[in-house]
Amino acid sequence: MHDPSGWVRGVVSYAKRPGDGAGLILWLHAEEEDQAVAEALVGHALGQFGPRTVYAFAFASAPSLGLEGLPVRNRPATRRALEAAGFAGRDRWRYLHRPLDGPLPTDAYPVADVCECADPPGWQMHLRESDGTLVGEATLGRPVDGIGVLWWISTDPAHRDRGLGRHLLRQCFTRLAAEGAREVITYVDDDAPPGDPEHDRTAANRLYDSMGFTELDRLWSFTRCP
Ligand SMILES: CC(C)(COP(=O)(O)OP(=O)(O)OC[C@H]1O[C@@H](n2cnc3c(N)ncnc32)[C@H](O)[C@@H]1OP(=O)(O)O)[C@@H](O)C(=O)NCCC(=O)NCCS
Repeated sequence: MHDPSGWVRGVVSYAKRPGDGAGLILWLHAEEEDQAVAEALVGHALGQFGPRTVYAFAFASAPSLGLEGLPVRNRPATRRALEAAGFAGRDRWRYLHRPLDGPLPTDAYPVADVCECADPPGWQMHLRESDGTLVGEATLGRPVDGIGVLWWISTDPAHRDRGLGRHLLRQCFTRLAAEGAREVITYVDDDAPPGDPEHDRTAANRLYDSMGFTELDRLWSFTRCP
């Protein structure tokens, strides 16, 4: 969308999914979160889709730069435009940030193995017992413009709440800083209820909060039924 002089005021990227025919708003940006521009872009995409289920900001795609959802605090006009058009929002992720510019925490526990991986581009960290048993792992994204990503961290259930998660996270910071990161971001899918056997993120949230991360935003996905 552009104004009469040709200045781009906003962009929407959308597609129809061949498998189920659903409409997808992959990404949308209105200049300075202008409400009228956001509404016009949402209206344009809906007009192209016709009557069908439409998902917006439902998964990461190339133009979303890895964000699996709309950061609603920073994008209030886009959220309002979607809700005004009949989309229902769902709060799905914490979006966290930590600077890596100060002195990094260190400790004396054995260092995790590091191996490079191609997908996602970055590194896998493996924390092992002295007999080689794997007790923790993490996936790191290669820094872009000084920003590294912690894609995943986990410890073996039988070894949790003994400090291994904190130890492995320190090593992740050290690795990212050595690779040029000045900041690290991560996402927490904390939309499951406490006690959920697979997705309870109480421990992860405690770990991140106590290791210097702050919440930048919440990531929401949206659905509109015909
Ligand atoms: C998150 C995780 C990596 C933490 O690993 P860990 O080895 O237990 O970590 P630590 O022992 O260093 O503990 C870190 C913090 O979590 C807290 N914690 C650990 N288990 C907990 C539990 N079951 N409930 C509440 N808090 C818990 C610890 O008390 C500690 O906080 P504190 O220092 O303020 O007391 C681990 O719980 C895990 O693998 N969870 C499943 C995967 C996951 O959620 N990954 C993160 C995805 S975003």
